[in-house]
Amino acid sequence: MSAHATPTPMTARPSGPLTGVAEVPGDKSISHRALIFGALAVGETRVTGLLEGQDVLDTATAMQAFGATVTRHGLGDWSVLGVGVGGFAEPAQVIDCGNSGTGVRLIMGAMATTPITATFTGDASLRKRPMGRVTDPLALFGARAYGRQGGRLPMTIVGAAEPMPVRYAVPMPSAQVKSAVLLAGLNAPGQTVVIEREPTRDHSERMLAGFGAEISTEHTPEGRVITLTGQPELRAQTVAVPRDPSSAAFPVCAALIVPGSDILVPGVSQNTTRNGLFTTLVDMGADITFENPRLEGGEPVADLRVRFSALKGIETSPDRAASMIDEFPILSVVAACADGITVMRGVKELRVKESDRIDAMARGLEACGVRIEEDEDTLIVHGMGAGGVPGGATCATHIDHRIAMSFLVLGLASKKPVSVDDGSPIATSFPVFETLMAGLGASISRTNR
Ligand code: S3P
Repeated sequence: MSAHATPTPMTARPSGPLTGVAEVPGDKSISHRALIFGALAVGETRVTGLLEGQDVLDTATAMQAFGATVTRHGLGDWSVLGVGVGGFAEPAQVIDCGNSGTGVRLIMGAMATTPITATFTGDASLRKRPMGRVTDPLALFGARAYGRQGGRLPMTIVGAAEPMPVRYAVPMPSAQVKSAVLLAGLNAPGQTVVIEREPTRDHSERMLAGFGAEISTEHTPEGRVITLTGQPELRAQTVAVPRDPSSAAFPVCAALIVPGSDILVPGVSQNTTRNGLFTTLVDMGADITFENPRLEGGEPVADLRVRFSALKGIETSPDRAASMIDEFPILSVVAACADGITVMRGVKELRVKESDRIDAMARGLEACGVRIEEDEDTLIVHGMGAGGVPGGATCATHIDHRIAMSFLVLGLASKKPVSVDDGSPIATSFPVFETLMAGLGASISRTNR
């Protein structure tokens, strides 16, 4: 949906204790991948627990445009009839990935080694984001990209007719780039090797193995060396999508900063490439217990019991940044409600997310009365202690779902309400955010209602 929805101003008010069970929806990263790998497999892949956020719905529409048959059977219950590796058809229309960097970058990778041409676009946020990080390695396979200046969408990719396998060291910590290269490698003969210095989320590697590809990961001094043998026959699978830890982060952090709260968030991923926030919160003094550890949909999960906590500031090291990259906006809210200073280092990737998240959080927190320092790669929040943030501002969300949810969580625990200019992007990743938070006792409303 490239035409951005009508802005929806929203307001969060200081709330009483949050209580109850917060069942957050399916993981966004895994949902995109289930649809894309399903489309590249032979046979019918069944997906349960699929996130029905707009980002994922846009990927489902795209997979249909490339020739797969995608069917919704019920809430979160979908099937994909795949066309096989190399079987993508040339889409008759422009592929609109809406707000989703993951959608567009993974799909570009998936079609780049098939001799078809596709044109991609997205909303005003996605059209600002750099695609060169994906088209550079795709060029090594033989694909060509024609986009706007700075490698921006709209962009046309001409897939390689005779793709070559590639050995590529990903220059920035990015699971999207890694995954795009692996997806392109699927239809190249021989072995494609991706090297990542810092580990990033490994859902593509896990899912490729699950769909029957030959893939291995070696831990070397260079980093993780991932080797994929091209042109496998991917076999359709049943994929049970676990809940999204990046969505769980919002009720978890809300409970930590709203006095008297005590909530249960079931089935939160403990995958070490995703759980950096929870480790950091515990280091800050959070009262979180990890109950009933188990495997769900091939991912390690636990039920998180979370109680209001007196928190202290912390320094997060660059080594941990990738495992909590989407959680820095909400961490900066928690940091504002903690005692002492929190220093987040190695976070420059935040500048190229759905918005420049360092800038968006810094400006909004300042408007709410919090002292901030920042440089290109660092965000520093001067904590004001539990209940100490003045609030009382309207924060700009810049078409960024996580910025919107972060400031709404802040409004539950500040002295005065906090508003956002536009909460509509929340639907991209967490369409039930408002009802879920209301169920816990949070006072969040649409301002004009
Ligand atoms: C994602 C990777 C991350 C993350 C995004 C989802 C993925 O992006 O921020 O929300 O599913 O691969 P980068 O690869 O740009 O770090």
